[in-house]
Amino acid sequence: MELRLKSALTALSAALLLFAGVAPPLAAEDAPIYSLKDRFSPVVAQNGMVASQEAVATRVGVEILKKGGNAVDAAIATGFALAVTLPRAGNLGGGGFMLIHLNETGETRALDYREKAPAAAERDMFLGPDGEPDKDKSRFSGLAVGVPGTVAGFAEAYEKHGGGTLTWADLIAPAIDLAENGITVTPGLSGALTAAAGRLTRDPATAAIFYKHGLIPYLPGEILRQPDLAATLRLIAEQGADGFYKGVTAEKIAAKVQAAGGGMTVDDLASYEPVWRAPITGTYRGFEVASMPPPSSGGVHIVQILNMLESFPIREFGLNSADSIHVMAEAMRRAYADRSKFLGDPDFIDIPVQGLTSAAYARALAETIRMDAATPSDDVRPGDPFPYESNETTHFSVVDKDGNAVSNTYTLNFSYGAGLTADGTGVLLNNELDDFSAKPGVPNAYGLIGGEANAVEGNKRPLSSMSPTMVFRDGSLFLVTGSPGGSRIITTTLQIVLNVIDHGMNIAEATAAPRIHNQWLPDEIRVEEGLSPDTVRLLEARGHKIEEKNAMGSTQSIMKIGGMLAGASDPRRTGALTEGY
Ligand code: DON
Repeated sequence: MELRLKSALTALSAALLLFAGVAPPLAAEDAPIYSLKDRFSPVVAQNGMVASQEAVATRVGVEILKKGGNAVDAAIATGFALAVTLPRAGNLGGGGFMLIHLNETGETRALDYREKAPAAAERDMFLGPDGEPDKDKSRFSGLAVGVPGTVAGFAEAYEKHGGGTLTWADLIAPAIDLAENGITVTPGLSGALTAAAGRLTRDPATAAIFYKHGLIPYLPGEILRQPDLAATLRLIAEQGADGFYKGVTAEKIAAKVQAAGGGMTVDDLASYEPVWRAPITGTYRGFEVASMPPPSSGGVHIVQILNMLESFPIREFGLNSADSIHVMAEAMRRAYADRSKFLGDPDFIDIPVQGLTSAAYARALAETIRMDAATPSDDVRPGDPFPYESNETTHFSVVDKDGNAVSNTYTLNFSYGAGLTADGTGVLLNNELDDFSAKPGVPNAYGLIGGEANAVEGNKRPLSSMSPTMVFRDGSLFLVTGSPGGSRIITTTLQIVLNVIDHGMNIAEATAAPRIHNQWLPDEIRVEEGLSPDTVRLLEARGHKIEEKNAMGSTQSIMKIGGMLAGASDPRRTGALTEGY
């Protein structure tokens, strides 16, 4: 990271403004890069920046930026590299969402490359003989595997918005090199492989890649080579998406899914297409927010919750005070109740997006929030907007020197997905179809309830919580963020936005602050370590059940302030890196 003196002085003067006490709402030019009061400082750079969960992949993206690639090029190269270096979540065999901001036109576009159910999928396919959901079927069998979207998504993003100076093969070359010549196993990778060994060594194809003699996890410092994955990547580099969706790779994927009890065919793969969708937009205290539309629930509910919270003086309440946690939890509860009823694949159902994201509906919901008492979730029903812990998804953010930006969240669902690898391809297969509602009213792996709107159907996309998000100030890029964390993705991303806008925190402080989460059912506020005992008592006195559990999310964020970039990788998970130049 190079920081010239002049820019350092600009950054410092922006930071010093903080000491004067910045009144809300923040103006972008007053927003903090860092101040001498801060305990956590962001990474600062002038030109471009990449924040991802894995250091080697971040550096791949930064190199692409330095070579003249734009944010989309760098995001694609980082995404392919993560498929090699962060196999628990980075992927070719999964899917996700990419939000792209084009500085020249000011346009922000949302690319949906979420997995689809194969055409043969049936509504009751995850039920056992007793009519109840069979978790093995929806999580670890071939039936769990959705038609992957990642490669098609990256190809589409490159075709429409690649920078034009680097070839598609240029963007995949670093991943091929890493797969072929090997990566140095990090403590994070070794730990994840050890934790998942029971599940992953059941499939000989997976075991042969990630475990020595098919049994022993690689140790930190050892070299992991993935030659089959390198060969698959080479086909993709040479043939584009066809190298994955047609021919030998597609045949091997379909064969593996069928051998594991699923119904995916080569036709399902050949007919997969990503979809451009209009982002969900809203405003919060003068800032503009853009996030992922359905089949993600993220954008709708982030905007809905922000709309409700706008009625409350969050900044005066103070970070993680009983008052602010109370109103946040109440707003979250109401939004997740609506999620359970109204959200699903927009190509199959009508979703009242306008109602759910309208300020008037949010005001009506906010009026039902009492300051002195929690509303039991049993008393909250989806409104009327017409009038596990095996976590891995991964997010990365990129901003280039021209102000273009990418916010990308993609996943295999569980760590290493279904744990199945298509033999001979090195491609781990997702278990994304567990995100469908196997049976109305029965919670999925993240405790999320769904209904008709998210029932299984052939060619349908399962409802997601992944929420790649951007915030703008007067149309100028201000924040790029997102997170893994299953059902907690929405509330984690929301709190980055609140911490920056309401609490005036720099992005590193905003990232490190303890998080809370309420998802309607179970009726509890899940909190991270770090809340004061008297705050917990005050919340309990209002009727909240407080459950302290594991840390939530792993955000990768970049802010643009006064011409400078300030980024932060979440300290909650090891191995992440934000780097700029
Ligand atoms: O799309 C979704 O909402 C889930 N499949 C995401 C899973 C996830 O985030 C796992 N954990 N970090």
